[in-house]
Amino acid sequence: MNLKIKHLFKALLVLVALPIYGQQGGMWIPSLLKGMNETEMQSLGMKMSVQDIYDVNNSSMKDAVPHFNGGCTSEVISPQGLLLTNHHCGYGQIQAHSSVENDYLANGFWAKSQAEELPNDNLEVTFIVRIEDVTKDVMSGINPKDSEQVKQSKIAQNIAKTVANFPKESYQENKIKSFFEGNQYILFVTETFTDVRLVGAPPSSIGKFGSDTDNWVWPRHTGDFSLFRIYANKDNKPALYSKDNVPYRPKYFFPISLDGISEGDFTMVFGYPGRTQEYLPSFAVEQIVNDLNPVRIGVRDSALKIIDEYMRAEQNIKIQYASKYASTANYWKKWIGESLGLKRTNAVEAKQAFEKDFIERANKNKKTKAYADILPQFEKLYKEITPYAVSKDFFTEVALRNAELLSSAWKVFALEKSFTNATSFDNKKASIINSQERFYKNYSPKVDEKVFEAIVSKYANEAPKEFLPSILKNADIPAITKEIYKESKLTSLEGLKELLNGDAKQVQQNLNNDKGYLFAKALFENYLQNILPKYEELDLQITALQRTYMKAQLDLYPDARIFPDANSTLRVTYGKVDGYYPKDATYYEPVTHLEGIMEKYVPGDYEFDVPAKLVELYNNKDYGQYAEDGKLPVNFIATNHTTGGNSGSPAIDAHGNLIGLNFDRVWEGTMSDIYYDPSICRNIMVDARYILFIIDKFADAKHLIEEMKLVHPKNK
Ligand code: ARG
Ligand code: ASP
Repeated sequence: MNLKIKHLFKALLVLVALPIYGQQGGMWIPSLLKGMNETEMQSLGMKMSVQDIYDVNNSSMKDAVPHFNGGCTSEVISPQGLLLTNHHCGYGQIQAHSSVENDYLANGFWAKSQAEELPNDNLEVTFIVRIEDVTKDVMSGINPKDSEQVKQSKIAQNIAKTVANFPKESYQENKIKSFFEGNQYILFVTETFTDVRLVGAPPSSIGKFGSDTDNWVWPRHTGDFSLFRIYANKDNKPALYSKDNVPYRPKYFFPISLDGISEGDFTMVFGYPGRTQEYLPSFAVEQIVNDLNPVRIGVRDSALKIIDEYMRAEQNIKIQYASKYASTANYWKKWIGESLGLKRTNAVEAKQAFEKDFIERANKNKKTKAYADILPQFEKLYKEITPYAVSKDFFTEVALRNAELLSSAWKVFALEKSFTNATSFDNKKASIINSQERFYKNYSPKVDEKVFEAIVSKYANEAPKEFLPSILKNADIPAITKEIYKESKLTSLEGLKELLNGDAKQVQQNLNNDKGYLFAKALFENYLQNILPKYEELDLQITALQRTYMKAQLDLYPDARIFPDANSTLRVTYGKVDGYYPKDATYYEPVTHLEGIMEKYVPGDYEFDVPAKLVELYNNKDYGQYAEDGKLPVNFIATNHTTGGNSGSPAIDAHGNLIGLNFDRVWEGTMSDIYYDPSICRNIMVDARYILFIIDKFADAKHLIEEMKLVHPKNK
């Protein structure tokens, strides 16, 4: 048999035997690609070797892919430290530099020279220098008979010791992360740069085109990118901001392909996926679909409807709530899509089928004793934890997230709980006032009052009765709301300052005379006493059981494609450019074009307006070297398995060139964090040529194009 057929045959066998482990998808550790992954990647068309992706001794692609401020990914695209990420990842920085006179969110920003690049507080990028498996060190001295608490504390000690002893340079850091639910531990040597300056951003009508309506949706037409630059000291090492810093000279940067992609082409996405839960038992998936997502969606639904009405009616409220609205709506919409997708793909049934196979395998392998109890245990624990988990989600969504007066009170509550000594009290007070200054700038008591009444009522009516605080039982919520928003000092910054005026004793007195604070405190104390402790106790048992379940899967399915769940560490995912069938008789092609932007164009609309300059370039077909067959590609999709945190990740072709910038997933496939179905899960990327076109033709920032390396791998 030739190798390819043999490989196919083997894959087919695995597919038949394993209903849950697919042949596609997965987020793989870059230092461990040799073997199965490399073979698969090459059979999909990859022309490079896995050493080109990760190499400890020579520069490789990983040296060009830093974590962007802990939540997104970015990539270096020039020898002078030019950095590409999403517009939505740089949003906070772009907003921070904006004012009414210079509204960079609305109009875009382009530094004409390096001297005009804008420094940022609180922005850092972190490179991976080295990846090492340290499982042996972390597990040393652990006795299987130890209790979960004892195990955890020994592991924590071993981690601290290994982090302290593993060799590194003085300007580097060691971090250890758990993989496969604590069955493997990996150490990362990292380098963090904190002088990162804003270089360019398109207007939101390009960078956020389609806004919330198009979010999580294909076909898409968003130019979701922004540019930064990393600065280093004269020795090219990380340094705090200084005028004397110079552009960082990277060990590696990505060439950018002008040839683009075609359906079926190999693609790879390299970045920092945040969190997935691919190995949950069916009981957990049922809980998400039936119990938890409905709570989160329901609370946000009420809050968003009210905020939206105010935002449409009043301009200043629109500005105040734009960013909060976008972030609340992002996951609200994702959970709706996730639940729909889990139902439509029968994820629970697929998990149940797998569980049947799991038991059979355990029996066949004479592991009945070791593994037979896992699933019944899960069933029991999930049943037990559900009312606590539902109550916790209600509390979190209502009190910590969407009723803003309550989340402001939560900060003060932490202060009241921690009266220790006078200096720490004063420091904490100052830091609360400082952070709440920003909060109250974007706070409207009248919007919050309406939201409060709606979602606190929902909490009182729909959360499990036995875990409600007595203050919510048979309560007249409209009357309580009215009273609180009339009398509480927590509705303004001045009020908050008054409440916090005086020594600890005085402040305590002030707080306990405030109606809003007392109401909030009743909710918080109920949560901390009646919900959280039992939740945590059961959750610890579930975590331990999940570790055993994971270990059992690795043991019983030694040849399966099992990848570790995302944990905000650097991963490789690969696949091919591919359309999909979202519903019966409908096929979505994998590439969108500028024509589609014009089709969606609604002059003056806050989601679908198009800048005049872009319309002009379109009318003149002035696309420079960036068009293909007379059309300008905008976005494309592929079968790469991505999640939150992969935003800003480089999309890479078979030869290692940049072809796009990851930023989202398609609606039908948003359940991929829990259940990856290759027939409908797709990631969405901005085509690199659209990015170059916007920089070059729209912004006229040709000096940036000149520092990049543009290539023609297909020799077109
Ligand atoms: N859904 C994408 C992600 O999860 C993009 C979010 C930003 N865009 C938006 N319209 N809120 O982050
Ligand atoms: N938009 C996400 C992010 O910001 C990516 C995703 O969830 O697909 O990381």
